[in-house]
Amino acid sequence: IFILFMLPALAYGLGSIPWGLIVARRLASVDIRKTGSGNIGATNVRRAGGNIPGVLTLAGDMLKGMLPVCLAIRLSGGGNGWGDLYISAIILAAFTGHLYPVYLKFRDGGKGVATAAGCFLAISPLAVLITLSGFILLVRGTRRVSVGSVGAAAILPFAVRAAGGSGTITACAALIGLGIVIRHRDNIRRLMAGTEPKI
Ligand code: G3P
Repeated sequence: IFILFMLPALAYGLGSIPWGLIVARRLASVDIRKTGSGNIGATNVRRAGGNIPGVLTLAGDMLKGMLPVCLAIRLSGGGNGWGDLYISAIILAAFTGHLYPVYLKFRDGGKGVATAAGCFLAISPLAVLITLSGFILLVRGTRRVSVGSVGAAAILPFAVRAAGGSGTITACAALIGLGIVIRHRDNIRRLMAGTEPKI
């Protein structure tokens, strides 16, 4: 019961861990907030430090979403009305942590793609597989990660529904997707101006 009530705060705290900042500082000796796009996500860490730091950031950001959601599924029994509401709250808590990290005074948070992928991998691997396919096609076609991210954000709620997700989880996916698109507003502006960097 105690952990049931503490988990939202724990998920937010975990989500707040800025893996990209830590990895880039340790492995590439750069402040990722002052390099490239300035984003603390895996794309920018890879841009600044190469593949290994990029993959480590991706893994860390995915895990911090996946872990609390796995716990939430276990605690709530999953698959019932209240359980899905609880799981959605945990997903939103981890995601909000990544976007507004308490350890960085709520500034310099990321764009939420990897964290969301980790959260939904815990609840619906099939939905993530469908979304990932769209992401890969878009990134390959345009050579721009941000196009894949925005496209994936739009696909996610439909993929969750198609994979058998409840209305609650689908609504949560739509909210997360919207959050991701909003966080990409600078990328969208650059894409329209034709100045978004290629991979
Ligand atoms: O998920 C972030 C990615 O879509 C864009 O990253 O660093 O190019 O803004 P960045």
